[in-house]
Amino acid sequence: MLVLGIESSCDETAAAVVRDGREILSSVISSQIELHRPWGGVVPELASREHLAKIDPIVTEALETAKVDLKEIDAIAVTQGPGLIGSLLVGVSYAKALAFGLEIPFVGVNHIEGHVYSVNFENPPVQYPAFALIVSGGHTNLFYLPEEGKYKVIARTRDDAAGEAFDKVSKMLNLGYPGGPVIEKLAREGDAKKIRFPIAKISDGRPDYSFSGLKTAVARYIRENNIEPVQDGGGISQEIKDLCASFQDTVVRSLLKSVEKLADELFPKTLIVAGGVACNGYLRNASEKLGEKLNLPVYFPSKHLSTDNAAMIAAAGYFHLKNGECAELTMNADVTMRLQNIEVEDNELKKKKVRYKL
Ligand code: KG4
Ligand code: ZN
Repeated sequence: MLVLGIESSCDETAAAVVRDGREILSSVISSQIELHRPWGGVVPELASREHLAKIDPIVTEALETAKVDLKEIDAIAVTQGPGLIGSLLVGVSYAKALAFGLEIPFVGVNHIEGHVYSVNFENPPVQYPAFALIVSGGHTNLFYLPEEGKYKVIARTRDDAAGEAFDKVSKMLNLGYPGGPVIEKLAREGDAKKIRFPIAKISDGRPDYSFSGLKTAVARYIRENNIEPVQDGGGISQEIKDLCASFQDTVVRSLLKSVEKLADELFPKTLIVAGGVACNGYLRNASEKLGEKLNLPVYFPSKHLSTDNAAMIAAAGYFHLKNGECAELTMNADVTMRLQNIEVEDNELKKKKVRYKL
């Protein structure tokens, strides 16, 4: 089955042609990073206008690269949510119109589920039960998957997403946007043990995440130590490199601490680590080390599939289409779409004596 995937939830316009959910024939991404860079973050109105201008040429390029004619496409998978409303609407409207015109099925995909499926292309099949740690600019969630397509959030951020913390710290130091790649690069020359930032403890004892406190701790450290933001084109001090390394280390330790604790209770057979922050080599190394310790295989997407792309949307869509799911033309973008479809009284989890309230 040839699925055309379309992604436009945030600041990437992307289209891909994927065969049977595992083979990428093309994956084209038009990034808006340059457009938003002067503002240090995504400007929603600019994003949707840019999607509108790019979507048709990007879909055409994806078909051409795949050497596939539009008539050969069997179905369309499009990101339905979560994301920015104006951005989502461009993809959803385009997919609907195309599916209607071609008289083929289409399906709405949860963007976060797309990230889960980004590991499908270069790894052996996922063994269940699995854990999926999805860390991006907009989301930080740890999911439990007893089987394919079933999701239970077992840890989530209470405030900022991990990628957002990278972006905000980068902004404080005037290191540029997006923050993740530049902080990772500087951290390689810094000492991660130099500054001891605290890992947030959630008062109700759940293994959730919180990165807003860390951001404040970094801001305080900058202020108290009179660290000047980097001048455009200027050199970068060792102090800033140490700060980047210590901050990154704290984020990664925090992410994996909950994974380790919960893996001890739920015994997953695979750990998926995906989303934009999964590009981070320090997180990859630490996850692999944890995997070795727990005897748990860890699957990552390759870097170009970690950040937003449409191949992962096509792969997730394929799973739903194969199960006979198909959207109606009345389907709409869903800004706050959630990915959690296991009921509270899930027996499997109960049997495993999960200590916190599910
Ligand atoms: O998945 P993604 O492309 O978009 C969302 O769905 O949010 O993730 C983008 C996020 C940004 O916050 C960016 O700073 C972060 O991923 N990111 C990184 C790295 N590369 C991208 N964070 C840490 N280290 C990196 N190397
Ligand atoms: Zn994403």
